[in-house]
Amino acid sequence: MDIERIQKLSGIIGHSDRIREVLDLIVQIGPVDITTLINGPSGVGKEMVAKAVHLASRRSREELITVNCGAIPEGIIESELFGHKKGSFTGAGDDRKGYFESANKGTIFLDEIGETPLATQVKLLRVLETGEFMRVGDSKTLKTDVRVIAATNKNLGDMVQNGTFRQDLYYRLKTVTINVPALKDRVEDITHLVERFALEFTRSNEILYRGFMPEAIRMMKKYNWPGNVRELKNFVQKILVLEKGERITVAMVSRELGDALPSIDINHNLPVLVSDQPERAEIDLILRQLFLLRQDSETIRNQLMAIVQNGGLSNIPIPVGDNLNVGVPIHDKSMEITDDHAYFIRDEVIGDMAIKDLEKEAITRTLKFFNNNRRKSAKSLNMSERTLYRKIEEFGLEPKIKKSNES
Ligand SMILES: Nc1ncnc2c1ncn2[C@@H]1O[C@H](COP(=O)(O)OP(=O)(O)OP(=O)(O)O)[C@@H](O)[C@H]1O
Ligand SMILES: [Mg+2]
Repeated sequence: MDIERIQKLSGIIGHSDRIREVLDLIVQIGPVDITTLINGPSGVGKEMVAKAVHLASRRSREELITVNCGAIPEGIIESELFGHKKGSFTGAGDDRKGYFESANKGTIFLDEIGETPLATQVKLLRVLETGEFMRVGDSKTLKTDVRVIAATNKNLGDMVQNGTFRQDLYYRLKTVTINVPALKDRVEDITHLVERFALEFTRSNEILYRGFMPEAIRMMKKYNWPGNVRELKNFVQKILVLEKGERITVAMVSRELGDALPSIDINHNLPVLVSDQPERAEIDLILRQLFLLRQDSETIRNQLMAIVQNGGLSNIPIPVGDNLNVGVPIHDKSMEITDDHAYFIRDEVIGDMAIKDLEKEAITRTLKFFNNNRRKSAKSLNMSERTLYRKIEEFGLEPKIKKSNES
């Protein structure tokens, strides 16, 4: 059995080094009858790996029985695992086989092993070590020949420390451990996973599929996918439904991932912006902030003029709310920012934004844009050249700008 074959059989997608390590291990330990522990965060594909181990084993023609230890009520878990004798408890009308008996010659997959009650753990240890067990209510020892694979997203080592998992069972289980890495640690696989999920989904639902733009995939690689492959799969399906038949663009992806995306811009004091042109969106935002600032100062200036003209404070109308903008014309188109969902600003950074940072950024960029021509820059920023000089000094922009111009 080689990697390619096991990928084909199990459906595990991925070409990253990390996933290849996992596949290598599966190929290596698959054929050996050894207890295997699969560890990794939620949604990374532990169940797929368990199936792959079974498929790579000599038991592949026999049954693989999956038991979700976290989903079986504590009161009946032992009867489910080991079976019971007729009349051993209320409702036990017949003798019944448990999973360990049914899985004889095959494989048993104990999913969410960390959820197993302590009392049951002792019995698991016994069956792991000797293949022996007893049905509930019976004193006869039975024997089974099963290969055990267990999986958990818990840290069993920690559980041993705080007394919720038996140390002897832990040592028995972890002899061979397959650690399945989080998706964010193998982003190269995202392209393949998206493509496969999209094809499968559109085919079975008869949706036209036009693919994902490379930029859209790139953005998806920046997200950290706490729900791992499961989350990615759901995301792909959701976006294909929402954008039925459309080619998936970066704008669509950013709209869906929204706030969850990490900052892409360089200045971390600035709001986080996500758009197909982050640079452009950032400039727009800075301009908008400066524009609002200018509106404010204009309003204040008008009021001061009014004070002077009216000769006293008592006659001044105090503007409230929206009235603040009355009489301040918005002429400059470039100052507008469109609310077409292309831009997102994380609310939590808003409070950290200082007008000074925005101003400094705007000045730096404007000077750069006009090749350090201060007259043009001042005009564009709508400030006097004198003010610009003062700001350049205040923000210590001179050496930096000169330097960047020289290079
Ligand atoms: N490498 C992969 N290739 C293709 N599909 C994958 C891959 N990894 C995971 N999946 C898909 O992602 C989903 C979650 O996988 P799986 O149930 O195996 O994860 P898990 O680690 O067992 O999650 P949990 O910890 O929540 O039980 C499934 O739909 C599975 O088909
Ligand atoms: Mg699982």
